[in-house]
Amino acid sequence: MNKLIVILLGCLATGWIAGLQADEQSAIATVESYGGQVLGIAKDVEGVRVLIPPKTFEGRVLTDADLEVLKEIPGIMELDIKNAGIGDAGVAHLSNLASLERLHLEKTKITDAGLKHLTGLSNLVYLNLYGTEVSASGMDALKTLKKLKNLYLWQTKVSEDAAKSFQAAMEKSGNDALEINLGWEKELLSKARLAALKTQREALESSATEESTELVVAEDPDFATHIMPILEANCVKCHGEEKQKSKLRLDSYAAVMEGTPDGKIVVAGDLIGSSLFQLITLPADDDDLMPPKNGPLSENEIAQIRNWIVKGAKAEAEVVAVEETKVASKESGVFGEFILPILKERCADCHGEDKQKAKLRLDSLAATLKGADGEAIVVSGKPDESSLYARVILPADHDDRMPPKGDLLSKAQTDLIKLWITSGAE
Ligand code: HEC
Ligand code: HEC
Repeated sequence: MNKLIVILLGCLATGWIAGLQADEQSAIATVESYGGQVLGIAKDVEGVRVLIPPKTFEGRVLTDADLEVLKEIPGIMELDIKNAGIGDAGVAHLSNLASLERLHLEKTKITDAGLKHLTGLSNLVYLNLYGTEVSASGMDALKTLKKLKNLYLWQTKVSEDAAKSFQAAMEKSGNDALEINLGWEKELLSKARLAALKTQREALESSATEESTELVVAEDPDFATHIMPILEANCVKCHGEEKQKSKLRLDSYAAVMEGTPDGKIVVAGDLIGSSLFQLITLPADDDDLMPPKNGPLSENEIAQIRNWIVKGAKAEAEVVAVEETKVASKESGVFGEFILPILKERCADCHGEDKQKAKLRLDSLAATLKGADGEAIVVSGKPDESSLYARVILPADHDDRMPPKGDLLSKAQTDLIKLWITSGAE
């Protein structure tokens, strides 16, 4: 097989298409050799999510030094190394991951000294330190994290008072969105959230139907991103490692889907059949409401869970839609296999047999290479100089973006186009 196809297929299998940088590919392979995964975040979002388990398939324990390879992988937006035996020296390897927005360090061996390595992560929004040894004196190092919104300090050495004064200090320096979770019954809501909840409640009261309140839910929900944090904050205390009320665990996708010995609690696409959903939407005074104390969940959390179940209760967002569009075509090779299906689906209406906007057809390799009225739209090896690529990566509101209407191409699709041009556009 052609080398490019081998790489393409390898990338499709991991759900993420990288550029062809050899060092990035090899860093990803290293993470995979730890039993880890490098995944796309969602359609149209640049960046990746990295999940590394505490042990490899062979049972080798992840070490601090293993994390050094992460700096070779660009655009890590989420890193999950929870439960790993990683300590402060391991966390030191994270200090330059500038795109990092979500970091799971719960139940690792990080201490106050390790927190100092996080001060430069200015994009960090979510930081989970649950079950670690960090204490109040380590908190100072986190004061530079201006975007921090969710901080988990349950079962650490940080007292409630210390957490409150950290929150107050952050508020003073302009971050009024920080919420600190100190356990399932103790959440220090932010000023912004309190105000939002008030508005939400008022909106609910003034609107006749529930449907008319606009809640923002993910178009392509993903368990780890949209659901796990809700369960972690509200359910895992009683349905997790320590306690399994009703013999039910809610601390992983597999556990949620498995349900209880009596049966499933989540049925994809079926809200009525999903007792998980039923139990979180009971009236506030119902004894069966979950969580039993401190409930119900917020409207937004319920909306996220509803949305996730309705859309199939999947583990992962569907990053790669390309495989579905792999239809039989007359063109062979990479173009016929990967590029033409995208062009046929998204461009041929205006650049095909019936219409040739800009005197351009995109329904065969020859036509695509011929370009618009004699002007090339593909420059072999140079995606940035190829208007075919340049126009599909423009933002949605740009006048020149292609296709001019409807959804943008997904990141996986534009990456394929880029890869095809980079590798010679044949
Ligand atoms: C304070 C502890 C506690 C918390 C927190 C909690 N639960 Fe429960 N949960 C229980 C108990 C106790 C039962 C069994 C009660 C019963 O049978 O009436 C239960 C039962 C359940 C069941 C029913 C399982 C079956 O037998 O069919 C589901 C589903 C469930 N919980 C979901 C949740 C979800 C979702 C959350 C978070 C939003 C949550 N629980 C939070 C204590 C808790
Ligand atoms: C709804 C119709 C429509 C669709 C669908 C569409 N285009 Fe276009 N395209 C146009 C029009 C109209 C123009 C000329 C105006 C302009 O340049 O913006 C154009 C121009 C272009 C040009 C510039 C040609 C030149 O003059 O250099 C490129 C490249 C292009 N389209 C690529 C694409 C690609 C790739 C897709 C699919 C991802 C696509 N278009 C989908 C309508 C469309």
